[in-house]
Amino acid sequence: MPTPHNEAKKGQIAPVVLMPGDPLRAQYIAQTYLQDVEPFNRVRNMYGYTGTYKGKRISVMASGMGMPSIGIYSYELYKDYDVETILRIGTCGGYTQDLHVSDLLIVDSAWSESSYAMVQSGDIESIQYPDPKTNEILKNCADEQGIDYKTIRIHSSDVFYHEDDSAQLEAMENGCVAVEMESFALFHNAKQLHRKAACLCTVSDSFVHQEELTSSQREKEMDKMFVLALESAILL
Ligand code: HPA
Repeated sequence: MPTPHNEAKKGQIAPVVLMPGDPLRAQYIAQTYLQDVEPFNRVRNMYGYTGTYKGKRISVMASGMGMPSIGIYSYELYKDYDVETILRIGTCGGYTQDLHVSDLLIVDSAWSESSYAMVQSGDIESIQYPDPKTNEILKNCADEQGIDYKTIRIHSSDVFYHEDDSAQLEAMENGCVAVEMESFALFHNAKQLHRKAACLCTVSDSFVHQEELTSSQREKEMDKMFVLALESAILL
């Protein structure tokens, strides 16, 4: 049963969905890591694919940028397509000295000034949480694969271009060490619909260090995150 934003038929999407922001990353993951790939969505170029990874049926679909966008796609995946778990695999900006470009982060909570949860369901909590068991699986898998990670609270922001640093300072006062724009809405939707969500982020830019990755370094770091997500998805 297609939705206005997703033309997949029921059953075409696996219970576990990996969710990058960028549609081309969804395409790359499907082409690079999945076997027997079937595309299921092209509406608005928000590509979605289902295939198998080491025998496990897994889907990958892009979320777009920001909470309104991931809010729509994740809600429909849970509600209309019976998806059990969404693993966001994104990038973020590092706020603090001890975070460096290419660090891999497992998000243990998302703080936001956003009205998303309040408007969606009357939920006034400013912190939303991933599924703790899914996070344990991500951590165990990273340990087994020898992949370094940090567990952090993220700032899910509604705004990318700020006129001043007041939003960043408020987020840091609330324990956030990095910023992205999606996890808060994803975690909220999972809670609301009694499903599971988690988020892995690679630090793509820093607010304190002058660090840049070459495109091949960036790809390598992103691949590390994709493999961790795929290996963990086998256990979900
Ligand atoms: N701000 C918000 N979202 C982001 C950033 C950022 O600096 N980097 C990657 N995603």
